[in-house]
Amino acid sequence: APQAIIAPSILSADFGALGKACSDTISHGADWLHVDIMDGHFVPNITFGAPVVTMIRSHVDRPKEVYGKGTFDCHMMISEPKKWVKDFQKAGCDLYCFHYEAAIDSTAAESPETHTDRKTNPKELIKFIHDQGMRAGIAIKPGTDVKVLYDIFDNGNKDEVPEMALVMTVEPGFGGQKFMPDMMPKVEALRKRYPELNIEVDGGLSEKTIDVAADAGANVIVAGSAVFGAQDPAQVIAKLREAVEK
Ligand code: DX5
Ligand code: ZN
Repeated sequence: APQAIIAPSILSADFGALGKACSDTISHGADWLHVDIMDGHFVPNITFGAPVVTMIRSHVDRPKEVYGKGTFDCHMMISEPKKWVKDFQKAGCDLYCFHYEAAIDSTAAESPETHTDRKTNPKELIKFIHDQGMRAGIAIKPGTDVKVLYDIFDNGNKDEVPEMALVMTVEPGFGGQKFMPDMMPKVEALRKRYPELNIEVDGGLSEKTIDVAADAGANVIVAGSAVFGAQDPAQVIAKLREAVEK
């Protein structure tokens, strides 16, 4: 499997002092920052948008190489992923990870005059993200079959293939939920099929659940409450890394 990448989710950080929380997290040994964007529509919660990402970007040096330290991994829990690609690129997003379920949203018919971008094909969206100079990720909710991703990752056209798959291990929307071990067969299936793929797990990861996820083949580890709720965040980050690398 590819190298371990630890991506603390700033959803559990102090939003009143987010810039400092971000720079501290990088000094504590994090590789990436996982930035959860929620629109109150795709998920039942709202976080923040591109202007906040611009502000926190100034507290963290842009990575010197692809996937380097300080990568902004933006998890787009939003209904119209295509609409925000350019804004997030300008704000300093490095990896734009959208939800498969949003890209194929069949509710486009609800209000077609205002939601013309809703029905974007995932492959077209991936190409669009790449055209803006970002890496692309594709996320699936717990209820979505992993097989929907095969056609996307097997595509011969490199422009249309994402650099990461995100397997949600909770229902997206909130931090601090319980890890769903029954999502591990999805991770195992992806790891078997794509030995070099960056496979991210998100939701309920901690020192208690990391071994199960690492054994299944996940290498990109998101952790919100486990890192920001800890007395010693650097130690938690180190332990998560150790579990993936062993
Ligand atoms: C949930 C978010 C996660 C969340 C994880 O919708 O996508 O990134 O912050 O939080 P923990 O690690 O506390 O489950
Ligand atoms: Zn997330």
